[in-house]
Amino acid sequence: MGARKKVTVIGAGNVGATTAQRLAERDFYDVVMVDIIEGLPQGKALDLRESGPVEGYDSLVIGTNSYEETANSDVVVITSGIARKPGMSRDDLINTNAGIVRQVTESVAKYSPNCIIIVVSNPLDAMTQLAWKASGFPKNRVMGMAGVLDSARFKHFIAEALDVSVEDVNAFVLGGHGDTMVPLPRYSTVAGIPITELLPEEKVKAICERTANGGAEVVALLKTGSAYYAPASSAAAMVDSILLDKKRIMPTATLLEGEYGISGLFVGVPCKLGINGIEQIIEITLTAEEDAALKKSAAAVNELVEVIRLKVTDIGL
Ligand code: APR
Repeated sequence: MGARKKVTVIGAGNVGATTAQRLAERDFYDVVMVDIIEGLPQGKALDLRESGPVEGYDSLVIGTNSYEETANSDVVVITSGIARKPGMSRDDLINTNAGIVRQVTESVAKYSPNCIIIVVSNPLDAMTQLAWKASGFPKNRVMGMAGVLDSARFKHFIAEALDVSVEDVNAFVLGGHGDTMVPLPRYSTVAGIPITELLPEEKVKAICERTANGGAEVVALLKTGSAYYAPASSAAAMVDSILLDKKRIMPTATLLEGEYGISGLFVGVPCKLGINGIEQIIEITLTAEEDAALKKSAAAVNELVEVIRLKVTDIGL
């Protein structure tokens, strides 16, 4: 591999391969894709390399079934695991994906002891907590991708409702990546104007509900799997903020240790992402109602974490 920053994507399925594509097309990373299925990552990697002359990128894309080629990655995105089907919640995936994420993380940590891990496998918050434990990494180097996706969905629905560019929309989502997530309308804006001033209350409420069920809406349409274009975009945006040291503030699943009154649990909150991973957790004052909703979401995450016996300390709920 050359001198470019190296990003490994574990899982060459829908989310993993699309993430690899998005990263390769940026033309400033080298990308390694790992999967257990023989030929799948190799075939997709070759196909992506052959796309380079047309798209105009020189990114090296390698597919493999082993971890040697992942050595010394700067960032590793974990997407391996099963995706949900209609009628399933993200939580239904827990037992299968916990085994996969644990094993994969141990291999990742062995070959890239200094990398930053971004978990995408669901149920997101519990899988991120598991990866943190299994890696033995400090908490700034293990995070979960969910809030960027949830807020992207929120932004899309706002832009659609107001017939404005998505570029002028900012949206804020807190909490776990599940039905209990907490979209925050008063911090969601169009060109700086809170959406609570631009849309009737019922419309805001409907958009928040649609956001919380955004993943299920796609699953119901696809029937054979879950969303991957927007999840891949979201993971790639986090990779950029880290490896380009942009220090963007992105909703990220991180280990809380007292922030927002929660301890010992990975939950989505705004974080500054730079070359050191999570460089700062941004804490804002919540209304009583928002605080209650966040605690409810954290309790839902905690239940899952207990299923895989990972509770670190009492979360004080
Ligand atoms: N190591 C490497 N790859 C693995 C392993 C493993 N131990 N176990 C499974 N995989 C691979 C599968 O072979 C498959 O190619 O993970 C890939 C998953 O791809 P898809 O089934 O297409 O699922 P995808 O839609 O990409 O979702 C992956 O991301 O968004 C979440 O909920 C989603 O947990 C799911 C994950």
